[in-house]
Amino acid sequence: MVNIAVLGYGTVGSGVVEVIDTNGAGINQRIGEKLQVKYVLDLKDFPGDPVQEKIVHDFETIIQDEEINIVVEVMGGIEPAYTFVKRSLLAGKSVATSNKALVAKHGAELLSIAKEKNINFLFEASVGGGIPIIRPLNSSLTADEIEEITGILNGTTNYMLTKMFYEGADYDTVLKEAQANGYAERNPEADVEGYDACRKIAILSSLISGNQVDFEDIYCEGITKITTEDMKYAKTMGTTIKLLASSKRDGSRLHAIVAPCMLYPEHPLYNVNGVFNAIFVHGNVLGDAMFYGSGAGKLPTASAVVADVVDAAKHLNRNIMTMWKQEKLTLEDKGDAKR
Ligand code: NDP
Ligand code: HSE
Repeated sequence: MVNIAVLGYGTVGSGVVEVIDTNGAGINQRIGEKLQVKYVLDLKDFPGDPVQEKIVHDFETIIQDEEINIVVEVMGGIEPAYTFVKRSLLAGKSVATSNKALVAKHGAELLSIAKEKNINFLFEASVGGGIPIIRPLNSSLTADEIEEITGILNGTTNYMLTKMFYEGADYDTVLKEAQANGYAERNPEADVEGYDACRKIAILSSLISGNQVDFEDIYCEGITKITTEDMKYAKTMGTTIKLLASSKRDGSRLHAIVAPCMLYPEHPLYNVNGVFNAIFVHGNVLGDAMFYGSGAGKLPTASAVVADVVDAAKHLNRNIMTMWKQEKLTLEDKGDAKR
């Protein structure tokens, strides 16, 4: 039996429990053992929800239970997520998380603890929601020097820009819709100011360069200044507007940026609409590859988190993630965005 504890029973956490309930038989077969959610940590109770009997309010119950092999962190934010994740790893429990804020800030340290303990710190859902991108960069694409990653990495803003472009919808209305659909961050400023995409491109940049890339160093501009008028002009010019996050490597130099861009229909990211994300990757021997799919939302994100749980369960005593060094990489064009 592999026992897990889920920290946070919100959009993603409830999705994780649902995915394990729905697809349990196949998941157990792929692991070779039964996967069980033993605890769910949340601030609230959930009367009437079958999960209620698993709810705990004190992390000590989880950390002190030697039967817990894997901790799933889906609470969000830096604290107490960082403390809980670090303590879990130090106690020999693997961790799967969807928390990009945590990975962008403390990923190097948490990966190094996991390596030392011969367990895993996995974060597929932290970039691109349900799209596999961390795992490919960690396995199938490791023969390459990745020279470029350019993507639509935020579902909320892509949903908003798509509605503004095709329906002439206004900014505030579409932001409320994205929040109601569970795509937006708790504080949607992170989405619309580009900070969420910035953290995601920082994680990908750290992975491809092998050094810590701080999101604060990346030039970052969101979509708050984009109006329906701008969209009309873009359309007149035969273009659309997309929030792109891009990282380009030139030897040891790295350029990274997050900004709204006008794209012509020939651009591979022009037709990526709604909550979908897409990530274009160029490797020096591979050439081009594209990853496309559901970039946010309860079940797509939970799918990626549970896939990490399955990987962690299959490798309980073997570290499988490539690390990046804690030494910071100095970027070529330093960002100046306020965060
Ligand atoms: P939610 O706010 O829906 O869920 C978070 C849950 O954790 C809430 O139930 C919250 O309780 C609980 N929680 C917060 N702090 C604590 C604490 N100290 N102890 C116990 N429980 C706590 O967030 P999401 O599920 O949307 O997001 C979770 C993480 O996943 C974030 O890092 C987010 O960036 C990331 N993510 C989200 C995606 C999405 O589409 N939603 C997609 C990809 C990643 P309460 O409500 O009472 O505060
Ligand atoms: N708020 C994020 C987005 C969630 O809209 O893309 C997925 O990381």
